[in-house]
Amino acid sequence: MKKERNELMEEIVSLSKRRGFIYQGSEIYGGLAGTWDYGPYGVALKNNITSLWWKRFVDDRDDMYGVDAAILMHQNVWKASGHVGGFADPLVTDVKTNKRYRADHLLEEMGVDPKGMTLDKMTEVIREKKIKSPEGNDVSDVRQFNMMFKTHVGALEDDASISYLRPETAQGLFVNFKNIIDTFHPKLPFGLAQIGKAFRNEIAPRDFIFRVRELEQMEIEYFVRPTDWKGTFEHFLAQQKEFLTKDLGLNTSKIHVVDIPEADRAHYSKHSVDHEFDFPFGQKELLGLAYRTDFDLKQHTEHSGTDLSYYDEETKERFIPHCIEPTFGVGRLMLAVISDAYTVDELGGEKRTYLKFAPSVAPVKVAVFPLLKNKPQLIDKAQEVFKMLRKEIKGVVFDDNGNIGKRYRRQDEIGTPFCVTIDFDTVEKPEAEVTIRHRDTGEQERVKISDLLTYIKTKIG
Ligand code: GLY
Repeated sequence: MKKERNELMEEIVSLSKRRGFIYQGSEIYGGLAGTWDYGPYGVALKNNITSLWWKRFVDDRDDMYGVDAAILMHQNVWKASGHVGGFADPLVTDVKTNKRYRADHLLEEMGVDPKGMTLDKMTEVIREKKIKSPEGNDVSDVRQFNMMFKTHVGALEDDASISYLRPETAQGLFVNFKNIIDTFHPKLPFGLAQIGKAFRNEIAPRDFIFRVRELEQMEIEYFVRPTDWKGTFEHFLAQQKEFLTKDLGLNTSKIHVVDIPEADRAHYSKHSVDHEFDFPFGQKELLGLAYRTDFDLKQHTEHSGTDLSYYDEETKERFIPHCIEPTFGVGRLMLAVISDAYTVDELGGEKRTYLKFAPSVAPVKVAVFPLLKNKPQLIDKAQEVFKMLRKEIKGVVFDDNGNIGKRYRRQDEIGTPFCVTIDFDTVEKPEAEVTIRHRDTGEQERVKISDLLTYIKTKIG
């Protein structure tokens, strides 16, 4: 693509790899575009984000039911949902190389906002402005390209065996609506929630883990009486903001709430509002909220022949509930958290790079060091403190690699909020104390070992 990745993104990608957060998928074979693998700190960061989400939206509520549906689903699910017919991106083909490109991206790169444009309008603008492919060749008219990965289930490769890798986790919730009603008899309003992988054959994966072909979603389908949709929509909009700022610690000034005009809404949505975020490559969608009406349950009732209506004991009416869908992309949240935390400053006259993670998301919360690595009495005590903390806190590491300055730099780049050092005073004084060093300021303070656990627990929340 013509547009260069900006320098800050290059630094974030480089740090993510260097420190074991994120690697290119299938890297030793030259990589598979649009796929990324998470290393130890990436997994820990991801688990912290998904756990905070599950806690806020499932465990701390009485009206939410967790589900983990299969990725492969009956092909009729995707006919009913409208994805076979309509889950598509606008595309042009380079007439010489036959390579395909996203028409909306080509327009954006020429400073044209493609939002709300029909395919014909995009073609017209491409012709008018003489827009070429990145290789400098003419391009075809704009066409729709279905983004679902198609596969066959079983030994026969015929039409009846076609299935798709799910492009959204949402349908796994709609098809379990009746199971949850039959098993748990929930009263309206209530929701189904799940975290899982989804797949989209993006023509132009880009911006690191922002636009990818294999992604992880956290989605809720929340069912309400038709007249109640607005209040519920506002409730989840506020909850999404709280999740971003209070749980993940994202900077409020980088978050923007954007109404999505009708022309840009997904086919199932009557009202959509996105939370966008100031990524290093611009303000882009971070998460979404859609009013899906009774579209999906109605479609599945028609296509499956199973009645998905609900009998409301309170109003004595039978109807198909309406649905509000808060949807979150885990990778985009990770990128927002990493890019928001990425900080370069000077400490003690030296330039340093660190990740200013909120303690709630930091993959490592505490690193425990012996001051010197060749003094058994320091190592034994440091091990004792490390084990005491690890028993109670998730994300505690022991580090005796290199000198103390190097260890601080490494932990800063990982985003560890607290480093605890065991020195000779710790082992010699009767009231044993350790030094706690704070990541953001570099300030150090002495804390009694007997107070250490409570001290750290209070700080990390
Ligand atoms: N379920 C909404 C989405 O995948 O974007």
